[in-house]
Amino acid sequence: MTPAEQTLFPPVTVLCKDGRPVTLRPLQPTDGPALGDFYESIPPADIFYYCPHPLTRDRALQNATQALSPTEVVLVVDSGNGRIGGYAWFRWPPGATVAGFGICLSSAFKGQGLGEALIRRLKEIARRIGPGTLELTVQKKNSGAVSLYHKMGFEIVREQLRQPDNEPEYFMALKMTQ
Ligand SMILES: CC(C)(COP(=O)(O)OP(=O)(O)OC[C@H]1O[C@@H](n2cnc3c(N)ncnc32)[C@H](O)[C@@H]1OP(=O)(O)O)[C@@H](O)C(=O)NCCC(=O)NCCS
Repeated sequence: MTPAEQTLFPPVTVLCKDGRPVTLRPLQPTDGPALGDFYESIPPADIFYYCPHPLTRDRALQNATQALSPTEVVLVVDSGNGRIGGYAWFRWPPGATVAGFGICLSSAFKGQGLGEALIRRLKEIARRIGPGTLELTVQKKNSGAVSLYHKMGFEIVREQLRQPDNEPEYFMALKMTQ
């Protein structure tokens, strides 16, 4: 998000189901170390489901340098003192008609309503910024994520097999006109 776009969508505070306040805010170029801590905290069982790229500290530092890019929107869960407890994003190649979507919460913040809050906020943003359609793939056995996506309006476009392990997955999409 460019600095101008970020002013349209400033940080918002939301309450976890257990009462903890957190802030949903755009990723900043200075978030690299905190994003690296978050990546390194993701357990292998979740990396099986969520691995858009190697979840390394180097990759986090690199991703943070893209925070002001006009072709990506990244919202982080700031749990205080700049610590990152999860994030959701959409990114698109310049000129593309669809954006790829991803989401991951740290174990400490799962089941707190934050997946839903992040996607609700991203949808508000996606109505103004980006190509207007979000796409994702999700393994069929990741039933919690599948439920979340259905609840937030994503629809199954097709079923396919994730390579290299022939893992059954859904290809889902959400149009901002919906
Ligand atoms: C999937 C994930 C993003 C869900 O986020 P979350 O913050 O835990 O979800 P929320 O608390 O906002 O739940 C919202 C809705 O999602 C669904 N949901 C979430 N987790 C669920 C679970 N474990 N079982 C069943 N439904 C679940 C429910 O419909 C829920 O609504 P409800 O509370 O009214 O039942 C989170 O578990 C995660 O980060 N998992 C690891 C990474 C991952 O799998 N990413 C997706 C890759 S495609």
